[in-house]
Amino acid sequence: MAQYDVVIIGGGPAGYNGAIRAGQLGLSVAVVEKRETLGGTCLNVGCMPSKALLHASEMFELANKDFATLGIEVTPTLNLPQMMKQKADSVLALTKGIEFLFKKNKVDWIKGMGKIAGPGKVEVTGPDGSVTVLETKNIVIATGSEPSGLPGVVVDNKRIVDSTGALTLPEVPGSLIVIGAGIIGLELGSVWRRLGAEVTVVEFLDRITPGMDAETAKTFQRSLTKQGMAFKLGSKVTGAKSSKTGVTLTVEPVAGGEIETLTADYVLLAIGRRPYTAGLGLESVGVVPDKRGFIETDHFKTSAPGVWAIGDAIHGPMLAHKAEEDSVAVIEIIAGKYGHVDYNLVPSVVYTYPEVAWVGKTEEQLKEAGVAYKAGKFPFTANSRAKINHETDGFAKVLADAKTDEILGVHIIGPQAGEMIGEYCVAMAFRAASEDIARTCHPHPTRSEAGRQAAMGVEGWIMQA
Ligand code: FAD
Ligand code: NAI
Repeated sequence: MAQYDVVIIGGGPAGYNGAIRAGQLGLSVAVVEKRETLGGTCLNVGCMPSKALLHASEMFELANKDFATLGIEVTPTLNLPQMMKQKADSVLALTKGIEFLFKKNKVDWIKGMGKIAGPGKVEVTGPDGSVTVLETKNIVIATGSEPSGLPGVVVDNKRIVDSTGALTLPEVPGSLIVIGAGIIGLELGSVWRRLGAEVTVVEFLDRITPGMDAETAKTFQRSLTKQGMAFKLGSKVTGAKSSKTGVTLTVEPVAGGEIETLTADYVLLAIGRRPYTAGLGLESVGVVPDKRGFIETDHFKTSAPGVWAIGDAIHGPMLAHKAEEDSVAVIEIIAGKYGHVDYNLVPSVVYTYPEVAWVGKTEEQLKEAGVAYKAGKFPFTANSRAKINHETDGFAKVLADAKTDEILGVHIIGPQAGEMIGEYCVAMAFRAASEDIARTCHPHPTRSEAGRQAAMGVEGWIMQA
């Protein structure tokens, strides 16, 4: 029987980053993964393939709509099989990269379905049905999450798809209805709209992207609408019927009113994700997940000694970089070091056009907490780089404590916002004041100057265009 310091169940960002760290710290470590490739949701059917399609479809739209403005005359033709192939090739290269890192850091990859079989024991059922039991001092649950279902809407991944199905549609839909105006719905809805689909997003709430700063979300919705995406807010889908050629949905206003029937070639269900913790043998160590399936933890410790949980399977944002932070921290704690994650500094990015990125608190959160704050905002219409590039949608907004000037939140909407937000993650980790940013020389001409100008706005200084 194999004996390990750590056995991690799940080979996603939570699993593989932790495993590599464990290898680096000299711990004997195995990762149990049921998929044929490493990398979890993120590399196989999440972050990476979606970003591959977002990038390619953005290039297609640029070539179609914006190149002519720059004096470049082209007539692009979509080659969807090639677009899908370059995505699959990149994904394969990334998953192979993790395999290489496992070998380099002496991490054993045990292929198969893992189940906890009592304290210190993980039972693995391999692809050929053979069962192996691993003995270990520590079990780390990193089993991730799966798409949430909706009663009355059966995902067949033919006409009614989840995010995985939406990454491999065989054709550009004439029409696509997205259920849920969250990050998946807007990213993948953007991909198919850019490639030619008519996209309608049906959202339960009366706003898009809950959790995003409300002013930013409004600007975001306006921009997506301008690009041709339609929104039906305050609406709930109560049923879906799919046929060989399309889907009929019944939709009701949340506030009550007339039932409507909508039809589309394809439907994408994207109303959130739930932890993937069923059938994991948790009962064998007395761990009881909460009603939604999340495993309760205290500094990644579950209620069972020697059993830890991280990533999407526990509370907190369901993001790859958060899963990565959890995984390094839990391994450092297991190794007797001081693993720590500051959940206030986990940034969020929506990789649409424009991108939306933020870190720290929203205005709504600060108001609710009764924190007095100052806001500075700078539009990209007044940023020279944005102007010269004809990319003036959006703004940068800095929120700072009214008394101490400490930066409490930063919200950026505009192209490359995701690249810009890192500056504020670092600044906030060092508990910078808004004035620190305002007094720091930024390169000209760059979009990053808009962030600095927003910080100057907090200080009440005259903003320069
Ligand atoms: P997962 O990545 O889900 O990995 C868990 C792994 O465990 C899986 O491979 C699963 O097969 C395996 N597993 C589960 N149970 C068992 C078992 N019993 N035995 C063996 N193996 C098991 N996040 C971002 O930060 N940025 C993005 O741009 C982004 N884009 C996304 C796009 C889409 C379409 C989706 C769906 C998600 C996206 N996410 C993104 C979220 C991100 O993918 C997750 O937050 C991240 O993958 C969570 O990591 P994890 O390791 O906790 O879980
Ligand atoms: P989400 O939680 O982001 O959004 C779901 C949306 O569906 C919400 O607006 C919600 O109000 C709405 N909704 C819920 N029930 C509904 C119903 N019955 N009818 C209509 N609307 C309904 O979830 P999503 O988009 O599925 O993404 C899941 C998670 O995956 C994200 O929260 C994020 O953590 C992760 N992700 C991250 C990405 C990134 O970082 N760029 C990209 C894609 C996913």
